[in-house]
Amino acid sequence: MTKKFYVTTPLYYSNDKAHVGSAYTTIAADVLARWRRSLGDDVYYQTGVDEHGAKMEKAAKLAGFKNPKEFCDYQTQFWKKAWQDLNISYDFFIRTTDTEHEQFVQRFIKKLWDKGEIYKGKYEGLYCLGCEEFKEPSDLIDEKCPMHNSKPQKIKEINYFFKLSKYQKILIGLIESDKFKIKPKERKNEVLGFLKKEKLKDISVSREKVVWGIQLPWDKKQTVYCWVDALLNYLSGIESKSKIFWPADLHLIGKDILKFHAVLWPALLLAGGYKLSKKIFAHGFFTLQGKKISKTSGNIIYVSVLVEKYGADAVRYSLLREIPFGQDGDISEEKIANRYNNDLANDLGNLVLRTITLVKKAKLKGEILKVEVSSLKIDNLLQNLKFKEVLEKIFQEVKEANFYINKEKPWQFDHSDKKLRQILQILQEKILLISKSLEPFMPETSTKIQSQLQTLKAEPLFPRIK
Ligand code: ME8
Ligand code: MG
Repeated sequence: MTKKFYVTTPLYYSNDKAHVGSAYTTIAADVLARWRRSLGDDVYYQTGVDEHGAKMEKAAKLAGFKNPKEFCDYQTQFWKKAWQDLNISYDFFIRTTDTEHEQFVQRFIKKLWDKGEIYKGKYEGLYCLGCEEFKEPSDLIDEKCPMHNSKPQKIKEINYFFKLSKYQKILIGLIESDKFKIKPKERKNEVLGFLKKEKLKDISVSREKVVWGIQLPWDKKQTVYCWVDALLNYLSGIESKSKIFWPADLHLIGKDILKFHAVLWPALLLAGGYKLSKKIFAHGFFTLQGKKISKTSGNIIYVSVLVEKYGADAVRYSLLREIPFGQDGDISEEKIANRYNNDLANDLGNLVLRTITLVKKAKLKGEILKVEVSSLKIDNLLQNLKFKEVLEKIFQEVKEANFYINKEKPWQFDHSDKKLRQILQILQEKILLISKSLEPFMPETSTKIQSQLQTLKAEPLFPRIK
């Protein structure tokens, strides 16, 4: 029976450009989507951009655009280009300015209003523009948001509030029992710790002074809070699809936006009468010398620069290989370059080049195609998002194949020797197996290897970089 698999990334703030952090989630989701498709599952992979809110309004102005929508149109092309360059196989790219999305958000929030899940009140407090989030004094260090190193604004306005507090107990139960799964377990504990520590407050879900947003259907002077707007993409994007994909199987996110996905999002779904998403996985941060890579820190590594220099597959590989998924870890261009030179050019590239050169000399063309290749046991690891471990396993095979060549020394044999044919057969099988296992991670390389095995036209897979 085919299973459906609905996987999402967060919506990236449209005023940014794709960097290693945003690429991390997107590549991981892509690997899962490709892997599940290869198993014959019915995959739906959604990503996109987050375009409304005060931050966007400000960024548009700063960039000299009169109309924020024009700014968003301009920015979106870079996001799409980055994902195309990285061979991201999403099924749908959603924008929160899509009409279908805007209408869905209005219907959804009106439903909550009609059900009495939303009430009018007065908000007075602090707001961090970078996070697009209301803050408590206890969230701050030296009165500053630690994530953005800036003082939040003081805000005083009439808002509409969602009765988040009434879901506190239900959420604790759903999370504790794993009916709503939060992974890895440190993140689950973090959410439970937060939910058990103090009483949840109702949350303001509209803004009076933010014009660039979706209007509240019953009060045209207010716009929907951009996080509610953005979270609803996971539902709005599949509304018009002919297949039933809800509930989402997996929301892949970074740990900085865990609370939104593990508290606000399920509460909204419960209030709207929807099933909960099945699982949330929050990965860690890429750091550069210990500091989170972000625009605010000014230590950003952009995808476009990396892909241009190393190619899509080397970037996909390095980012997932470097750090166990779920933990924080340092990344740098130097680390990516080392992976390129050592693992890809030396180990994998030479293995394929040497083997094909030998096969060609021995005139063995075609024989490999008859072989049914078993697969490396990586499904269970992939199921648990152990990307680094899968890649380690595959590259262990590469190492072993290289050892095998060095040990057997096939170049010493006469062309017609039976033993030579045997050695080369084994090597070709090993390489085919490696290339098939690599497909979700390095689709271009996988295809190239398989075509080289067939045509025996060997070209270096990863040419030296100057
Ligand atoms: O938060 N390392 O968007 P965003 C790893 N629009 N991941 C990183 C990272 C880093 N250095 N920097 C950023 C938003 N990320 C909202 C989401 S979803 C309904 C709305 C990850 O563009 C970060 O953890 O600020 C998050 O998962 C993603 O990039 C998008 O961040
Ligand atoms: Mg962010």
